[in-house]
Amino acid sequence: MPTVLALETSCDESAAAIVRDQTVLASAVASQVEEHARWGGVVPEIASRRHVEALPQLIEQVCRQSGVALAELDGIAATAAPGLVGALLVASVTGRTLARLHAKPFVAVHHLEGHLCSVQLGEPLPPGPYLVLLVSGGHTELLRVDGPGRYQRLGRSHDDAAGEAFDKVARLLGLGYPGGPAIEAAGRDGDANRFALPKGRVSRPEGGYYPYDFSFSGLKTAMLRQVRALEGVRDAAPDAAPEPLPLADLVASFEQVVAEVLVERSCRCAREQGLATLVLVGGVAANRRLRALLEARCQRDGLAWRVAPLAYCTDNAAMIGVAAAQRLAGGQSSCLDLGVAARLPLEQADRLYERQPCF
Ligand code: KG4
Ligand code: ZN
Repeated sequence: MPTVLALETSCDESAAAIVRDQTVLASAVASQVEEHARWGGVVPEIASRRHVEALPQLIEQVCRQSGVALAELDGIAATAAPGLVGALLVASVTGRTLARLHAKPFVAVHHLEGHLCSVQLGEPLPPGPYLVLLVSGGHTELLRVDGPGRYQRLGRSHDDAAGEAFDKVARLLGLGYPGGPAIEAAGRDGDANRFALPKGRVSRPEGGYYPYDFSFSGLKTAMLRQVRALEGVRDAAPDAAPEPLPLADLVASFEQVVAEVLVERSCRCAREQGLATLVLVGGVAANRRLRALLEARCQRDGLAWRVAPLAYCTDNAAMIGVAAAQRLAGGQSSCLDLGVAARLPLEQADRLYERQPCF
């Protein structure tokens, strides 16, 4: 049962955790969202600087809380890809330096493998391969998982990621950043059936549609048109008392259509591909409407389902620690001169453990 210190700084959360196998001994996250909210999105230079400031204290905090000293660790892990390069470098350089100083193995982790592992922090998974719906700020993917490093992508978004759609629609409505939690709060009491919005599909060149793929850019445009239409009605009657936009109904309808598209295509994929379990992970997996719909449809379709614990849906280091502990238990670790990369397909996560650094 390897015990690891894991560090995560790929975007706008600085995080450290100490994990023993699949048990979190301590986990701490310092979010920068308030700072980036002023700019309506993540500013890479600010993100890197804040990670540099936050990480030493987070490491000290998780060591203190877990009672584990650095000398007792079996390995030190850091997210190496994908993400913002300047941000990724903070955890990577810190992790590699500590690993060298304490003569511990260094384990680089693929950020999406971390998200996949977040589900293991909840109830145990049924045996056998399973289908993962991974929905975050940068990714919307359907992945068949047969074990660590054994991933096959069966579906994806062709334009915006689901989280990106939440962020863009929130910005359109002036709800702030990050969009997901803001939309969820604004739509809590809304009528999710009031506005009919499109379920974007992706055409095949040879005709028909890709059954497991997604497109969210049309939905964003449809929201914009709907808002303009409502504002048009309002402006056409300037003498009437100004009607506020039906914000709660608008965002509840948006959330509902995103949840339906994601869940319908995932359940179909699981059924047709003979996968008995559907797993939901990533920042957007924190959305209650999506969690509830997935549960209801899986129950109806006779599928088993698991959803990542709420605390580990958005970026954190505990999920990186679980991925690293698994890799270490399988005899894998990384070169101390392995760098970081803005992009790396999940199917190539094994490259992080090659003898010659791949970047
Ligand atoms: O996984 P994550 O923390 O970072 C990435 O790896 O991208 O995901 C962040 C994304 C953001 O787009 C955010 O708006 C979305 O997850 N998100 C949500 C919710 N909480 C975060 N989307 C919908 N509902 C939520 N409650
Ligand atoms: Zn993430």
